[in-house]
Amino acid sequence: MATIVPSSSLSRLLSPSLSSLPFSSRSPHRLSVTCTAISPSPFPSTVAAGDRGVYNFAAGPATLPESVLLKAQSELYNYRGSGMSIMEMSHRGKEFDFVIKKAESDLRRLLSISDDFYVLFLQGGATTQFAAVPLNLCKIDEPADYIVTGSWSDKAFKESQKFCKPNVVWSGKSEKYTKIPSFDVIKQNPDAKYLHFCGNETIHGVEFKDYPVPKNKTSILVADMSSNFCSKPVDVSKFGLIYAGAQKNVGPSGVTIVIVRRDLVSDSQPITPVMLDYKIQADNASLYNTPPCYAIYICGLVFEDLLDQGGIKAVEERNAKKAGILYDAIDGSAGFYICPVEKSVRSHMNVPFTLARSELEKTFIEEAAKERMVQLKGHRSVGGVRASIYNAMPLAGVENLVAFMKDFQARHP
Ligand SMILES: Cc1ncc(COP(=O)(O)O)c(C=O)c1O
Repeated sequence: MATIVPSSSLSRLLSPSLSSLPFSSRSPHRLSVTCTAISPSPFPSTVAAGDRGVYNFAAGPATLPESVLLKAQSELYNYRGSGMSIMEMSHRGKEFDFVIKKAESDLRRLLSISDDFYVLFLQGGATTQFAAVPLNLCKIDEPADYIVTGSWSDKAFKESQKFCKPNVVWSGKSEKYTKIPSFDVIKQNPDAKYLHFCGNETIHGVEFKDYPVPKNKTSILVADMSSNFCSKPVDVSKFGLIYAGAQKNVGPSGVTIVIVRRDLVSDSQPITPVMLDYKIQADNASLYNTPPCYAIYICGLVFEDLLDQGGIKAVEERNAKKAGILYDAIDGSAGFYICPVEKSVRSHMNVPFTLARSELEKTFIEEAAKERMVQLKGHRSVGGVRASIYNAMPLAGVENLVAFMKDFQARHP
């Protein structure tokens, strides 16, 4: 049911940083309509965890911060007095111009991204970047190096075969993708145009804790950071290109963020489709065609929220604490639960584990769901259990899961 509230009440709901909008919300003729669910206290930054009744451990699309969803809810029908939803307005109008520019500048602040880099908001998911990277960074007959630590970097490698001459310089396949190589064993090709890796393998739960350096000084470091983007600090200046689908840590599906060094975007292959051409996208400030406006808007709210939470360092500390509690529970279960990943490279985002008695896994997942901990099933390619504990998963969600795991074990001696 909708409630009519005067626009003056709505403007009280706007946070101070939003009141600097370059357009007015004071149309004398307009009433703003909003939902009854809006709390009279404007978007409290600490909405109690579990307010929606579940802890959502999905790998992506994944749980978003409650405060972001509530703010989006309040602005859904009438964005800041414009009389339009973000979904209804021109991507070339002043309101959306503000949204996309603020999202970019907040992301730049969060990750200390210098002006040497473009920040692009693109479409097609991270999967499209598997093709865009070689199309923009090398010619069809030029070599590129790929470190394959799991399903996603393997997919990136396979797609790149259509657009360059890639080479797998290390693969963790024979060890079921449970490791990250030490960098001195990677046999890099000195002529490779770039070195590609996946910062966090969402399915296998292995995460780079440090980054390799391309052997060739003119080679470029490229990372798929889809599932650990904005979960910890990263020195962007060490990279030529970072890309990330938004739907794990920073927003809904539909937008992919590409951070690319300015000097790398002007030499795409002639066959590059316009939508995949970084120069065209950069020259048009990600607005060559209609962008995924609503998804970009939500990312902007998430970036604002991360800054409000104290920035990336604070986020990293919280993530390390959550992951530590969960891995301790697994390792302290006397083998009842097993995480196959080598300890030093365990992901702080996606925690895959199995039960020694595999016949209990189905019951575990079903009972957890009854206890309102949902989407814990491992990826269909590997099975088992996977708890994705991205930025927006509250500590209480992990504590709940650990308490359930202990109880489940006690009931299955
Ligand atoms: C690390 C990683 N890379 C790439 C992808 C593919 O992303 P998209 O579905 O946005 O194409 C995913 C999806 O889960 C992923 O986790």
